[in-house]
Amino acid sequence: MKQVEFKKRRKHLMKRIGQGNIGLIGSASEQKRNRDVSYPFRQDSDFYYLTGFNEPEALAVFIPGRPQGEYILFCREFDEKKALWEGAHAGLMGATKDYQADDAFPIDDIDDILPGLLENKGKVFYPMGRDSDLDHSLMDWINHLRGQTRSGISAPMELVSLEHIVHEMRLIKSPAELKLMRKAAEISAQAHVKAMQLSRPGLFEYQVEAEIVHHFMINGLRAVAYPSIVAAGKNACTLHYTENADSLKAGDLLLIDAGAECDHYAADITRTFPVSGQFNEPQKQLYQLVLDAQYAAIAEIKPGNPWNIAHEASVSVLTKGLVKLGLLKGRTAKLIKDEAYKAFYMHRIGHWLGMDVHDVGDYKINDEWRILEPGMVLTIEPGLYIPSDCATVDEQWRGIGIRIEDDVLVTEDGHEILTSLVPKSVEAIEALMQAA
Ligand code: GLY
Ligand code: MN
Ligand code: MN
Repeated sequence: MKQVEFKKRRKHLMKRIGQGNIGLIGSASEQKRNRDVSYPFRQDSDFYYLTGFNEPEALAVFIPGRPQGEYILFCREFDEKKALWEGAHAGLMGATKDYQADDAFPIDDIDDILPGLLENKGKVFYPMGRDSDLDHSLMDWINHLRGQTRSGISAPMELVSLEHIVHEMRLIKSPAELKLMRKAAEISAQAHVKAMQLSRPGLFEYQVEAEIVHHFMINGLRAVAYPSIVAAGKNACTLHYTENADSLKAGDLLLIDAGAECDHYAADITRTFPVSGQFNEPQKQLYQLVLDAQYAAIAEIKPGNPWNIAHEASVSVLTKGLVKLGLLKGRTAKLIKDEAYKAFYMHRIGHWLGMDVHDVGDYKINDEWRILEPGMVLTIEPGLYIPSDCATVDEQWRGIGIRIEDDVLVTEDGHEILTSLVPKSVEAIEALMQAA
């Protein structure tokens, strides 16, 4: 992503913060895995969205109209020994030169400098309650200023949520963001195709996972957007199954929910297919039902439609189909009203997608479902999960779990499916697997 993109976002944010006020946001911290081993560092999405700065121990400050510069970055000073052991870091010079901060200060000096920046400001915009260290520090800095009011200094009077502004910005994707999302989607889709091609009885779920992650990595996408779910047979009925330890058996379905991250942007794809390449009759009937629900939901994705219509479309198709197949009994309208479908379809149709897999942005505004706008990206992922001990349904349906998930961009005149490379019709899946 080019620096100009981050600059544009900061400019927009400065306007929302307004002269006389100040905004603050901290970076993510390194997280310990065990003893002296850390998890791979992942920057906080809001912080990265505004700065493009990919280091821990940093804090960005926004002061609209500040004569010496509006954008200040506190970060680690350059340290030769650290560079030798751990690799490059920007230092103060890099912060101004490469990341276009107007001013940069050492993070270790923050307690000395920050109170001065808060002096005489009205509102402080910051992500409240997200980082308890920052919460405490901010209160200390404000109290420090309150102690000086007799010398004519005023302390900020109001705290305002910064992330709400940033999240509304993040909800509408720019062309530069969409480029990264398309890449994440394309490479993730290829990995799903590969998984279909190599699936066979006797493999273990983790071996399929390895092939998927291998495909992400050899294409330069080193992070998964979320832990991959590779769930054979009844494991697919556990929505967040990530053990991925069982073997694939002939006659079972395999549900794979996996997506890569490309420069902080996620893909999120699910496909469900027969381990040995051919659906049996009950599997085919349930699969076709989920697919019909997905088609019906995707058809509702266009500007002007409220977000919830896609969910309602999926509920309607699934409930009718479950009655037809005999898994639910009664009148469709009443079953929908009573939410009877929730026994087998217990999640909603999808979620916003972006830098976070379950991305930010309000789903309701003033208690009304949000209206879709061009540039929004969301997942459409209906599913059916029939518990293996479900005594109310015929035995043939038990232990089947199916989800079909695509990433969908709202366009000016409808939608575009970013993940359409992976087949999903019964015929296309069977053809691909039998040709492998
Ligand atoms: N992979 C998480 C989800 O589908 O929401
Ligand atoms: Mn999803
Ligand atoms: Mn998913």
